[in-house]
Amino acid sequence: MLMSGGTESERASFSGRIGFVIAAAASAVGLGNLWRFPYLTSHYGGGIFVVVYIIMALTFGFSLMAAEIAIGRKTGRSCTRAFRDLSEKHGWIGALAGIVPVLIVPYYCVIGGWVFKWFAESASGGLSVLASDGGGFWWDYITGGAEGLGDPFVWFGLFALMCTVCIAAGVEKGIEKMSKILMPALLAMIVIITAYELTLPGIWDGVAFYLNPDVSKLSMGTFLGATSQIFYSMSLAMGIMITYGSYMRKEDSIEKSVRNISMIDTVVAILAGLLIVPSAFMFGFGDSQSMGLMFVSLPQVFAQMPGGSIVAPVFYLMVLFAAMTSAISLLEAAVSGFVDRFGSGRRKSLAVSALVVAGLGALCILGFGPLMTDLAPFDQGAGWLGIFDTVTNSLLMPIVAILTCAFIGYVIKTEPIEDEVEACGNGFRSKGLFRIMIRYVCPICLLAILVFGLADMFGLFSVY
Ligand code: PHE
Repeated sequence: MLMSGGTESERASFSGRIGFVIAAAASAVGLGNLWRFPYLTSHYGGGIFVVVYIIMALTFGFSLMAAEIAIGRKTGRSCTRAFRDLSEKHGWIGALAGIVPVLIVPYYCVIGGWVFKWFAESASGGLSVLASDGGGFWWDYITGGAEGLGDPFVWFGLFALMCTVCIAAGVEKGIEKMSKILMPALLAMIVIITAYELTLPGIWDGVAFYLNPDVSKLSMGTFLGATSQIFYSMSLAMGIMITYGSYMRKEDSIEKSVRNISMIDTVVAILAGLLIVPSAFMFGFGDSQSMGLMFVSLPQVFAQMPGGSIVAPVFYLMVLFAAMTSAISLLEAAVSGFVDRFGSGRRKSLAVSALVVAGLGALCILGFGPLMTDLAPFDQGAGWLGIFDTVTNSLLMPIVAILTCAFIGYVIKTEPIEDEVEACGNGFRSKGLFRIMIRYVCPICLLAILVFGLADMFGLFSVY
């Protein structure tokens, strides 16, 4: 996160609301929107998942993001210390939230490595390789069947190294500034490629699958998937928005900012879904639960597209950039978590974080090779990478979110947080919604989702 290198006393702020919104949106828009949202939508029945996701983003997502940013701005602290400042006895909630980025960033970098590979391959004339085998290349590649496991290691290493170097050199700020240009450019690319796709014969069944909600496909799983996706995509329940809030100026509106950030994040996700899900459907990956969705159908679209060999690398480059800004903010959160928690210097904390990324990232890659073990049903068919994804998104994040709601709703009460939102002098239009969500709806629903999810994982009873 930019500027967190300074000490608390010299804490800088964003230059204004727009600066704040862009920085937070750069953290939020990433692989969550482009990689995770489309494959979950495909897995959970298309349109119905999109509807549930939008409703939850506007209610759960909005309230939690407002709460986190307000906690950050009120205390002027990053996650670990913010909770302790508000209540001496509850610092552990912040510490728990601080663990999440440490567990996400390694596997995020593995997927970032795949994007890197897809960029490099398509840029060097290898689009047909990526599109080969009817989309089977991705699985061959990650399991080492195509080019050995050394290759995924190289691209993962490069991706992680670039993020580490950016933080070590303190250039995160410059990188996030580039988002001002590259985020709209990415959106424009998505729209152009989608417009082309819509001319393909056979695509419209896929569009109907994506946009037509089929209520018979609604299950507890839809809610579990959508909730985990909201946390992941909006960078919630891991302390990140608390830290961002700590750099926000008092006179800027939290409510408007949260509206903008969640709107940008949701629009990018929905457009990315429109880009990927119908084409995957058309190429026969319809309700595939595969994490590889983004890597299997798009190369085939590019292979048919006039000028596809140029469009493909440009597109993957932009995805790479979006992934990198998010990975940097995750890594930065892990680093400042170590600094806050153990009082270690930034350099040492960065070195430790990099080691954790290398170790756990290697575990994820080898989990598709020699360390492949049957970790079902917890791994979504993706070995150790799936385990990290499930443990963070379906377990730790709901727990942190429930604790955050309970903490605000019943320990410090919602008033101080509402006051913080109102501090800019513009009032708080959604105060009623916020209060009901934080005190009742979020904790109760999240608890139910968590319990059902766990019961299903352990095979106690199925809810899907
Ligand atoms: N929200 C990011 C994404 O959608 C992931 C992320 C989570 C980034 C948390 C930073 C912090 O890819």
